[in-house]
Amino acid sequence: MKELVPSPPPIVRNDVAAIQALYQQNVVPSYGRFDLVFSHGSGSYLYDVTGKRYLDLGGGIAVCCLGHAHPAITETLIEQSRRLVHVSNLYYTEPQGRLASALVKLLGPGKCFFANSGGEANEGLFKLARKFGHDEGRFEILTAVNSFHGRTLAGIAATGQEKVKKGFEPAVAGFRHIPFNDLPAARDAISPATVAILIEGVQGEGGITVATPEYLLGLRALCDEKKLLLLMDGVQCGCFRTGRFQSYQRILENAERGTRNAGSFTPDGVSMAKSLGGGFPIGAFWVRAEAHGVKLCDLLGPGTHATTYGGTPLACAVALRVLEVVEREGLADNARQLGAWLLGELQSLVNRYPQVLHTVRGLGLMIGLELVAKERIPAFASSDKSAAIQFVNRLHEAGLLVIPAGTQVVRLLPALNLRRSEAEEGLAIVERVVKALAGAAD
Ligand SMILES: Cc1ncc(COP(=O)(O)O)c(C=O)c1O
Repeated sequence: MKELVPSPPPIVRNDVAAIQALYQQNVVPSYGRFDLVFSHGSGSYLYDVTGKRYLDLGGGIAVCCLGHAHPAITETLIEQSRRLVHVSNLYYTEPQGRLASALVKLLGPGKCFFANSGGEANEGLFKLARKFGHDEGRFEILTAVNSFHGRTLAGIAATGQEKVKKGFEPAVAGFRHIPFNDLPAARDAISPATVAILIEGVQGEGGITVATPEYLLGLRALCDEKKLLLLMDGVQCGCFRTGRFQSYQRILENAERGTRNAGSFTPDGVSMAKSLGGGFPIGAFWVRAEAHGVKLCDLLGPGTHATTYGGTPLACAVALRVLEVVEREGLADNARQLGAWLLGELQSLVNRYPQVLHTVRGLGLMIGLELVAKERIPAFASSDKSAAIQFVNRLHEAGLLVIPAGTQVVRLLPALNLRRSEAEEGLAIVERVVKALAGAAD
């Protein structure tokens, strides 16, 4: 195509300090960023502006499920944007209808609402719960200690971590936290105002903690008994990361046959985002067709909930393509098998280097490696930075990207199409760094 206007000169050279200066002067400093400036990526590798290559086992925090610059995503973005990018939700478009149908097939009878992020998807679930309990004066949502549900005002009220709430009081009313994987505590916490329980199947930001099958089944029974909605935040642990579309499907697949509800466990709502678009922003929530005698999926009627960009043909076309590639390439099985292998190998590192590594846990390609207390690692002890941050910095130097969670844990949330050879390469880097730290500790 003939250029209508000449291209502008590059704003900055590919220069780390110049790019960082643009941020310092112009971007709100709400993120603690690492000193890395990326220019491009391919598959599970990222390249910084100096040309250094990194193996990316963080996946943009569980987002880039097909890796970087996947041709299927690029093609879909080009093809769909040539046809139609946005029309608003005043009208119908085929990709939104097809994506909703695909998600309903994966989750069960119900309907979907499309948003732009995980936080926004959760906001929709909060509104659904409030609408459900409104006429009975019930509005309170119980969430778990150490949970993470987003950075909106209701999201930080829902999140079970004090650090996200500090400085933003007063908190949105109607959220209380219960210890995770503790069924009696959930039962005790229910008040006459309680309307829903929201949990992650695998807590992500909280440091990778997997819900037990007994907890999930017990919460379902409790919600049935007390007329509450059971809501699952699948933003980080969903979209095949654990080996099934949703983590609860994976967690419950080994629940003994005949166990009450094991085969038919269905939550009342599920939020999604992150890997759903493989890097293109999209969020969604699914609502069960019926719950407690109410047609739940039609509760949010015309005029009750909306978002301008929700479910654009462009975002939905990309998400459909991601689902297609995941299925065609068997990436759920890859997440399951490679994840299990990685977990086993990391466990062996934990056994060999107890001076540095405390424990490892996870499900599929969602793995948390917990370090021992900073004071026990001589190379880390005198710094005011957390053990997790210092460990991540050393991995960066060695060419590996992983994601910190809290002060002690680093997370592996790689692309679902990660290769065995790449996982081996990552493991070797982790071992090298751990070995050096252990050497200094001996
Ligand atoms: C479990 C969970 N819920 C919600 C969110 C918020 O998603 P977003 O950052 O897209 O708003 C996150 C983000 O990390 C998350 O991990």
